[in-house]
Amino acid sequence: MIGTDISFAKKLFLRSDLVAIPTETVYGLAANAFDTRAVLKIYEVKNRPQFNPLIIHSNSIERFESWGIQMSDRLLKLAHKFSPGPLTYVVKKSDMIPDIITAGNDTVAIRIPNHEMTLELLSQLDFPLAAPSANPSEYVSPTTAQHVEDQLSKKIKYVLDGGPCNIGLESTIVDLSRDKVRLLRLGAISKEQIEECLNEKIEDLLVSDNILAPGMMKRHYATSHKIIFEEFVELPTVTKKTRAIRFNKYSPLLPESQQILLSKDSNLYEAASKLFAVLRELDKMDLDFIIAEKFPNETIGRAINDRLNRAASNN
Ligand code: TXA
Ligand code: MG
Repeated sequence: MIGTDISFAKKLFLRSDLVAIPTETVYGLAANAFDTRAVLKIYEVKNRPQFNPLIIHSNSIERFESWGIQMSDRLLKLAHKFSPGPLTYVVKKSDMIPDIITAGNDTVAIRIPNHEMTLELLSQLDFPLAAPSANPSEYVSPTTAQHVEDQLSKKIKYVLDGGPCNIGLESTIVDLSRDKVRLLRLGAISKEQIEECLNEKIEDLLVSDNILAPGMMKRHYATSHKIIFEEFVELPTVTKKTRAIRFNKYSPLLPESQQILLSKDSNLYEAASKLFAVLRELDKMDLDFIIAEKFPNETIGRAINDRLNRAASNN
């Protein structure tokens, strides 16, 4: 069921049930993070391997402090600038955080999402919400309530509808748990923005299939069609069942009616917000393959390329 009733969502959390919640990045599949039975349901519903830890969400950095999370200078600086917002911090875990959340690691990922309805909900709860993206494991993340309902309606009772996600790509993840700061996932907040805020260089861990960010394994964002980058390979012959995902201009390679422009106005943020919905739409069609172009490798364009690369590497 889809709706906008925050009190109903609250009731479900108190009964160890799951609720899908809107955020500015993607929809999350949420449970009371302190309720192990509820958190186990997240893994079950998503078919997510239990070695892949979860992000916990709340409405202010002080609340995380009240749950035992140590406030470092770096965390406070970044949170002051970017939270609420699309940045997730990996920090030392506290004893109050159950091991099921962190997959046994000694770190935990925390985030304050920038979405009015969800901030209101979080402010009314006396626990954080564990929430991975509300998609079956390895599929693209949902950016509307209907996307969640399409795939999980039989498995969860309620989807809190906060409209389409503004950003449309998952949060940037930065690891603050070690001496050196490391970037674990690209999102709307860029590496440069983090470096500028901290006034130090940070490391890039994006290429590794490391268990430190297990969800960054290559096999992710899988849709059923083959995605081919037009810049890099000899293209197979274009057919009527070919589609192209493009930034702002049509390609001469195929009819315009077979192409999707993500932003006619050349706005990378607009393109990012549409990408996952377009991948889902194309997935419903009977296609031979999809051609994608490389987006400008700047700001959120880099995160778009990252997600397209992962989707393409599944074929
Ligand atoms: O935008 C987002 O971050 C969304 C919304 C719902 O907040 N959530 C999201 O969660 O994308 P999920 O579970 O789909 O992706 C979280 C990523 C996974 O790759 C996971 O492995 C990584 O964060 N992660 C979680 N805890 C971690 C930790 N302690 N250390 C390193 N990586 C961690
Ligand atoms: Mg995910």
